[in-house]
Amino acid sequence: MSVRRVLFVCLGNICRSPLVEAVARKRLAEAGLDVAVASCGTGGWHAGEGADPRMVAAARAAGHDLSQHRARQLHERDFEDYDLLLAMDRDNLRELRKLAATPEQAERTALFLEWSGTAPPVEFPDPWHGDTAGFAASVKLAERGVAGLIERLRDANG
Ligand code: 4NP
Repeated sequence: MSVRRVLFVCLGNICRSPLVEAVARKRLAEAGLDVAVASCGTGGWHAGEGADPRMVAAARAAGHDLSQHRARQLHERDFEDYDLLLAMDRDNLRELRKLAATPEQAERTALFLEWSGTAPPVEFPDPWHGDTAGFAASVKLAERGVAGLIERLRDANG
């Protein structure tokens, strides 16, 4: 399967998936891979908002800019617009699969860290309720996941 467009999906689209999107965009460009990335949330409570300020700060400390992010909710059309839809945790994956209209669409969903072949955990912990250490840990995990993602995309896209 050639993968040209990847959508990262979490719950609120203000912490994990915007972070992974920003890390992926930067590392893909550095790797010279022509793959477009975006993110959304299965829930719509934060639609239109920027990323969580704690996530923005932790990302900035590692050289990633989330200042332009605006949250949006997952939509059925995302299955047409993206080749691969990667969920941060199993709840997100379940919601994604509920929205898939066909088995073919459901087959293009997976857990981000699992698809990327990253060492456990395969679920990306939600830092939202935690402390600042959790946000810094999220950045490290996003970098590991994206490194694995890039290797797998090289194989997938030849
Ligand atoms: P995210 O984190 O799914 O990584 O964006 C969360 C953001 C907001 C909420 C939960 C998780 N919330 O319950 O509002």
